[in-house]
Amino acid sequence: MVKKKTCIFISGKGSNLRNLISRSRDNNFPIKISLVICNNMEAYGVNYAKKNKVPYIFVDAKKKNYENKILFNLKKHKISFICLAGYMKIISNNLIRLYQKKIINIHPSLLPKFKGLNTFARMLKNKEIQGGCTVHYVNEKLDSGSTIIQKKFIINANDDVNILKKKTQKLEYKAFPEAIINIFRNFSF
Ligand code: GRF
Repeated sequence: MVKKKTCIFISGKGSNLRNLISRSRDNNFPIKISLVICNNMEAYGVNYAKKNKVPYIFVDAKKKNYENKILFNLKKHKISFICLAGYMKIISNNLIRLYQKKIINIHPSLLPKFKGLNTFARMLKNKEIQGGCTVHYVNEKLDSGSTIIQKKFIINANDDVNILKKKTQKLEYKAFPEAIINIFRNFSF
């Protein structure tokens, strides 16, 4: 099996990156993590790239060459698939067009509910009875591309933001790899 050369975009802790690197060691897993792009010099997640000898670059959204640096490196590493794993910047329409249906994102709610930031606090305020995560394609509208997979959990009366985050991330570590497997089972590109 020829693995798709994949770039993971991160901004922070990188636990989904760590999980995907570990899953991609399996010969049957459809992607190879060939590049990590990070927009935050302080991001802990970059350590997982270093430790596993995955090439990584930092980008600064405030700099003029931000977009070009991303495009140059995607080309240089022959990237054909992109996973956003906690990347806190909006992806440009140009990049979305270049990678139509080849960029996916993981979001910590049951979309279309709770798009955007601070999902857990808003879920508690809204007295939601279930939470979860969604892996979806990225299109021009924030957190609005079609869903690939969702996983749910029940919210208990005394769950707080930290507990919701833990429950969500536990599901994310299953959902992200499953979504990737599903995509490459159903499509050939
Ligand atoms: C995840 O919970 C994801 O849903 C959200 O950002 C978080 C990233 O976590 N988009 P990590 O950096 O992978 O630990």
